[in-house]
Amino acid sequence: MSSARPSPVPPGSSADPVGEVVVDWYAGAARDLPWREPGTDPWAVLVSEVMLQQTPVARVEPVWRSWLDRWPTPAAMAGASPAEVIRAWGKLGYPRRALRLREAAVAITERHGGVVPAEIDELEALPGVGTYTARAVSCFGHGRRQPVVDTNVRRVVARLVHGRAEAAPARASDLVDIAALAPEDDARAIRFSVAVMELGALVCVAGTPRCPVCPVKDRCAWRLAGHPAHDGPPRRVQKFAGTDRQVRGRLLDVLRAASAPVEEDALTAVWDDAVQRSRCLDSLLVDGLVVQTDDGRFSLPE
Ligand code: ADE
Repeated sequence: MSSARPSPVPPGSSADPVGEVVVDWYAGAARDLPWREPGTDPWAVLVSEVMLQQTPVARVEPVWRSWLDRWPTPAAMAGASPAEVIRAWGKLGYPRRALRLREAAVAITERHGGVVPAEIDELEALPGVGTYTARAVSCFGHGRRQPVVDTNVRRVVARLVHGRAEAAPARASDLVDIAALAPEDDARAIRFSVAVMELGALVCVAGTPRCPVCPVKDRCAWRLAGHPAHDGPPRRVQKFAGTDRQVRGRLLDVLRAASAPVEEDALTAVWDDAVQRSRCLDSLLVDGLVVQTDDGRFSLPE
């Protein structure tokens, strides 16, 4: 994980720029995640980033592996049907991501000859690819120096640089803030982009941060200010039980398991509240995750 450091300053010394300290910390603390292995190609990185957007690492890992076994290139995936990708997405949640990933594979095949682009504007033009994913693919997949800002990184910057307990909503200056902390050396700046995400995921966490083990605790504006409490609107805690997301998941489970279109009765059984059930079924139809046959039955879009 480590590479030669260009600076003669000893690691962890107070003269060491924050970015260098975070990169050195990462060399010893990083999780061994498969999409971080050297040589992981940009398509595999794109798949991992889309899956990781709203799903924890442990649940993503097996699906990511089987996805790439089955569709090792964008062109392979572009030939799959929507139903196949919705089934393969399994229980990762937020299944619209699966449809967008397939559409991105089609666009990469048609517009870029099957090669995942490295330029931010070309990446951002792909379905389902936003500011974060575009930079993550360019940086981790293509080895380009890029500021990569996810929720974890925004929280680290809020505390370390701005002395605030929680991240503000995403804004363009996030990219500037993080770029200002990155090491000068390109290889280390690339490592820094993943290292600072890891710091936010493992140490500078949302609940109770693990300040005693933080490699930059002595430079942290929030800690130096005495950990002032969050003074903005309360953080949204995502619940699941009873939500439309749970109902949509149950409806999709029935259709994933079915080998032929099902009658509405088969869907009635999965949720008692008829108003909520019908709202969820409608939203699945609108999202293109479910289709209705001419005789009124329901299926995944083949
Ligand atoms: N490594 C690279 N990108 C990542 C992500 N989104 N989550 C966890 N580890 C990662």
